[in-house]
Amino acid sequence: MSAAQDAAHPARPDAPSNWVVKWAHLVPAGGRVLDLACGYGRHARYFAARGHPVVACDRDSIALAALKGVRGIEPVLADLERGDPWPCEPDSFAGVVVTNYLHRPLFPALEAALSAGGVLIYETFLLGNEQYGKPSNPAFLLGRDELLAAFGRGLAVVGYEQGRIHRGKTALIQRLCAMRSTNLSNDLEPPGCP
Ligand SMILES: C[S@@+](CC[C@H](N)C(=O)[O-])C[C@H]1O[C@@H](n2cnc3c(N)ncnc32)[C@H](O)[C@@H]1O
Repeated sequence: MSAAQDAAHPARPDAPSNWVVKWAHLVPAGGRVLDLACGYGRHARYFAARGHPVVACDRDSIALAALKGVRGIEPVLADLERGDPWPCEPDSFAGVVVTNYLHRPLFPALEAALSAGGVLIYETFLLGNEQYGKPSNPAFLLGRDELLAAFGRGLAVVGYEQGRIHRGKTALIQRLCAMRSTNLSNDLEPPGCP
């Protein structure tokens, strides 16, 4: 991924994405979570605070240093695009979270990393985002329904949308939540919602 995509930080980088918050309750309680290309770890921290052990992976040693010593988070320094050892075994995560990062060759490994009942939460930029700024390189922008096509066969899609958001700055995004499950008795809202 380019420096251009690195620059595409949200308005409040510490706040977890609304999409991640919306679906976090589906990740089996206490299960391990992978925050892939975690940056400063807003989602790693969010899941650790919810009681999940988290593997937070990124190639940016400065960003990862901010996570050192944070309870429940294991920072893993790896370049995910240059053949560094892939940080996860198949069937090893109850949750995989990817936001604002796209490297298509990783898609099969992300799906395989989920254990039974595991949840993939993915949100990143969509083709057309270039009209609003960065990322603008088409290599880092999803095509229409691309996440659905990539994960919709092997996983059960429970949430999917694409369109414009206005959070600090306007962006076009696509986002998916999907489970390795044949049993769709998942809660569409966190239990206890009024
Ligand atoms: C826009 S930031 C998103 C960070 C985080 N996911 C979030 O949404 O707050 C993109 C992240 O991808 C990481 N990244 C880019 N290319 C990478 C690679 N080849 N291997 C590992 N991490 C990479 C960058 O270091 C950066 O932290």
